Amino acid sequence: MRIRLRAISQRAEELAIFDQPGTWVAGQVGRLIKEGPAKDLLSGTWLGHPLHPMLTDVPIGAWSSALVLDLFGGKESRRAAEMMVGVGLVAAMPTAAAGLTDFSDTFGAQRRVGTVHAAFNTVALGLYAASWLARRRGRHSAGVALGLGGAVAVTGGGFLGGHLSYGMGVGVDHTAFDQEPSDWTPVVDEAQLAEGQLTLAEVGNVPLLLLRRDGRILAVADTCTHRGGPLHQGELEDGTVVVCPWHRSAFRMEDGEVVRGPATARQPAYETRVIDGTVEVRVREPSA
Ligand code: FES
Repeated sequence: MRIRLRAISQRAEELAIFDQPGTWVAGQVGRLIKEGPAKDLLSGTWLGHPLHPMLTDVPIGAWSSALVLDLFGGKESRRAAEMMVGVGLVAAMPTAAAGLTDFSDTFGAQRRVGTVHAAFNTVALGLYAASWLARRRGRHSAGVALGLGGAVAVTGGGFLGGHLSYGMGVGVDHTAFDQEPSDWTPVVDEAQLAEGQLTLAEVGNVPLLLLRRDGRILAVADTCTHRGGPLHQGELEDGTVVVCPWHRSAFRMEDGEVVRGPATARQPAYETRVIDGTVEVRVREPSA
């Protein structure tokens, strides 16, 4: 079973037929929800956690409850099951909006899987909407049958959503596995740092971004926490805020905090000092 499921998700990664519709949808979403407060809201920047995976619990939970009531609840549970289908439909709206925002930041195989994931969930939404209407009109058996179809579709969508996160790292902090030094570690000659210029270095195996500004040397991880973009290829805003070149998340170089999403996790930041002309760094513990 495990091998078969993996084969399905790998197949979805290769479905080039979805490139065009996926790119079109991502483009429309990108035009509709530009960088700024709305995107930050739907991405979960304000929560410090991706919003979409948290919201999915509500429709999936409501529809799962409806399924249990349909299967085991008997006649007296019909009204409750109908209500659960309705709750799932309402909750699916913000869930889909948050998911589409995340989807607009994907590309390549991630976008293909995201497209199939969205297609499954759209079918589920349609089936549950039809199920709710059938129940409202007293066609209980049809409502249950449509709900069963919705359950199958949403399970497929959920499986691919899990693969996007656990298999492909969408929504995962891309610095989560970095080995950051807690002891002072030399990284670069101070003379190599030009004022106001983003400089790439390395500490252990971790790419490091350095900036000399107004007598200070600031350092954060170079790999963007959002999707792994190379921050040294980005640009500076307001002197010490680095903007990622991929989706334009902005991070404060002083402490790595997110100034603008879609990133939800701060960049690991480093303390710096200069000893005999060599810049040394050690990881800065985030303030509470
Ligand atoms: S990779 Fe998306 S903002 Fe950096």
